[in-house]
Amino acid sequence: MKILGIETSCDETAAAVVADGVKVFSNVIATSLKDHQRFGGIIPEIASRRQIEFIHGVVAEALGQAKTALKDIDAIAVTRAPGLIGSLLVGLCFARALSRAAKKPLVEIDHIKAHLYANYLQLPNGPQACPQKRLPAVGLVVSGGHSSLFYVKDFKHFKLLGVTRDDAAGEAFDKVARILGLGYPGGPVIDRLAASGINKEIKFPQAPLANSYDFSFSGTKTAVLYYTQKNKNKPDYSVPKVAYAFQESVVAVLAEKSLKACRKLKVNTLLVGGGVAANSALRTTLQAQAVAQGIEVFFPPMSLCLDNAAMIAGLAYHLRSSV
Ligand code: KG4
Ligand code: ZN
Repeated sequence: MKILGIETSCDETAAAVVADGVKVFSNVIATSLKDHQRFGGIIPEIASRRQIEFIHGVVAEALGQAKTALKDIDAIAVTRAPGLIGSLLVGLCFARALSRAAKKPLVEIDHIKAHLYANYLQLPNGPQACPQKRLPAVGLVVSGGHSSLFYVKDFKHFKLLGVTRDDAAGEAFDKVARILGLGYPGGPVIDRLAASGINKEIKFPQAPLANSYDFSFSGTKTAVLYYTQKNKNKPDYSVPKVAYAFQESVVAVLAEKSLKACRKLKVNTLLVGGGVAANSALRTTLQAQAVAQGIEVFFPPMSLCLDNAAMIAGLAYHLRSSV
């Protein structure tokens, strides 16, 4: 069964063809990121205008790369929410029109849950996906817009355990990068700089929010702001060291809460997804701590951590009614 996935929730316009919920035949992504960079964040109006320009070509390219004609597609899947309303509408309208015209069933998908599903996909010649039978699992979604912890009973039943009470993890990376003058998006550059800033002198506060699976990152971000204002003209001030200390704080809380959920719920599979799942410190810390506790942690391949349509088409395979 081949499903055409379409994803337009933010600044990426993506389309993919996925077979049987696992095999990625094509995964095409266009982005308007460059148009937003000079503003230091995504401008919704620009994002939706670019979506309109890109969508037709991206879908055609995804079908072409998969060597699949539209008539041979079994269903169309599209991101329904959450995201920027203008951007979402472009994908939804396009997918609904295509579904009507081509007489193919349409499956509307939750973007956040799809980020976790990225763990079950297999790229051409890529590593083995997380086996589908590894359920139930705990799922940590950390992206630019969301930080959420789920209990995943199966692909139809996701129970929300906790969310961020303020900034999403990726948003905190982006805002701290702005404070440090590192540009947008902040995650990749902080990740890179932190590797050369390892230190024990600087510590930023974490918000444990005891007895809750919720997160809070705004206090850590504000602590970075005050530290920078106070120290930036001192001779030993180092941006890589600040980046490292900030990243350590965020990673520690993410690792602690997700592994605690695994222990309490007696689950030995942890799925991580979303843009921040690309973070090297989160990967190594979680991996090390999980192994020590008998928990296996899965991260999607790097190219499937950020927004993509393969995760939309993959999850749709399990949620279609009777295609
Ligand atoms: O999932 P995504 O592409 O978009 C949303 O659905 O929000 O995630 C984008 C976010 C951005 O905030 C970006 O800074 C962050 O993911 N990100 C990272 C890394 N790569 C991307 N954060 C930390 N470390 C990274 N290596
Ligand atoms: Zn996303």
